[in-house]
Amino acid sequence: MGNCWGSPVGNHSSPSATKPSTPVDDDDNNNNTAAAAAEVVVGGGSAAASEEKEKEKVEVEVGGSRKAVNVTPNLKVFTYSELKRATRNFRPDTVLGEGGFGRVFKGWVDEKTYAPSRIGVGLAIAVKKSNPDIPQGLQQWQSEVKFLGKFSHPNLVKLLGYCWEDDQLLLIYEYMQKGSLESHLFKRGLEPLPWEARLNIAIGAAQGLAFLHTTEKQVIYRDFKASNILLDGDFNAKLSDFGLAKLGPINGNSHVTTRIIGTYGYAAPEYIATGHLYVESDVYGFGVVLLELLTGLRVLDMNRPKGEHNLIEWARPFLPDKRKLNKIMDPGLQNRYPLKAAFQAAELILQCLESDPKSRPSMEEVLETLQQVNAIKMKPKGSKAGAKHTATATQRHQQDRHPLVSSHRYGHDRSLLHHQRYGRNGGGQGGARSPLTRPRG
Ligand SMILES: Nc1ncnc2c1ncn2[C@@H]1O[C@H](COP(=O)(O)OP(=O)(O)OP(=O)(O)O)[C@@H](O)[C@H]1O
Ligand SMILES: [Mg+2]
Repeated sequence: MGNCWGSPVGNHSSPSATKPSTPVDDDDNNNNTAAAAAEVVVGGGSAAASEEKEKEKVEVEVGGSRKAVNVTPNLKVFTYSELKRATRNFRPDTVLGEGGFGRVFKGWVDEKTYAPSRIGVGLAIAVKKSNPDIPQGLQQWQSEVKFLGKFSHPNLVKLLGYCWEDDQLLLIYEYMQKGSLESHLFKRGLEPLPWEARLNIAIGAAQGLAFLHTTEKQVIYRDFKASNILLDGDFNAKLSDFGLAKLGPINGNSHVTTRIIGTYGYAAPEYIATGHLYVESDVYGFGVVLLELLTGLRVLDMNRPKGEHNLIEWARPFLPDKRKLNKIMDPGLQNRYPLKAAFQAAELILQCLESDPKSRPSMEEVLETLQQVNAIKMKPKGSKAGAKHTATATQRHQQDRHPLVSSHRYGHDRSLLHHQRYGRNGGGQGGARSPLTRPRG
């Protein structure tokens, strides 16, 4: 979630179960965060009760056709004591992870009423609990509630409800069984994802972004990165963390101007340089994650040898060359991918990483290309070409070291990640979040 916002919000009171909450000031005072304009009534009520209420429809255009999508304006208001019970008093062994907002705990609730239930009974949930030491917690929390509470899409993590009692701010999500893409790509001890799973994840995440970019009120996600892509039990991707989401440009403008905030490595160069945020700034972040998916390497990693810290700079010359590409592919793939497909994906990465945002493809175009890439399948084993490819690829990997193999999956322990950030917590691993603030004229 976002970790740097404008002015602090004061004079707030806890919402009652029926009281609609009010928008907060935007990070750049133009009041156009997605949160500010979401016009969501966050009222109380159980899941069953909210089902009864009328659903809004939002028109979106994905894959060339317009369709109406349901938005669910009502979220369940949990009490703190309910969440305590659901997570067994926030027991340390229920911790799923920790990010800029605070810790995330696993809990259990009744499927229909969302009342706390015993472990393993009913519906698993993820409870994000704010760290009171983080001053931007309230703004992030409100942005998430007001924005994510509005949309419902298979590639966006579902927000079930929230809790706000005294200084306790919590968000309650559907539980994503396989955790984050970040952990599957970089954490030691997990099986490397096969090619097909990586493509499926890229396609799911692209669908999520394409949806945001084509809603009536265009939304820029602004924080696209491997740790914000969560995976369900079948490794389907869903985007999480809308604390930085922002409404797109209006009145024919190409961009919105906003305070610079995001994550080093994933943030687009024009945004870092000028604070001009384009819809295509998200496309850049997508290109970075696609590169991480191909290589199995973090976008930034100070533990790699000099000259290799920045994956984009280092990998760029390999991407347009079919003969060189295999040198940067993740050895965890064990050469089990169609080279033609990998090459098309590499070309797509280069387009997404174009320095001029207008030269980047739209997310719908990205999606289309990924679907074409996905249609390219491995030649069956035993076929002449397939056998040749497998043999040469194996030899190649026996001969050639992955150029970064010495540092590959080096220092990828998740606990390290959260202690070695740039900015907020001090420098270290890749994709680190920072306000990225710089003086602007
Ligand atoms: N809905 C969920 N289901 C399962 N695990 C989750 C869920 N939400 C978060 N997690 C786990 O908690 C971790 C921390 O998530 P969080 O979004 O707080 O931080 P982050 O994405 O790592 O960093 P940042 O604060 O920069 O977004 C995730 O990496 C994931 O492992
Ligand atoms: Mg996150």
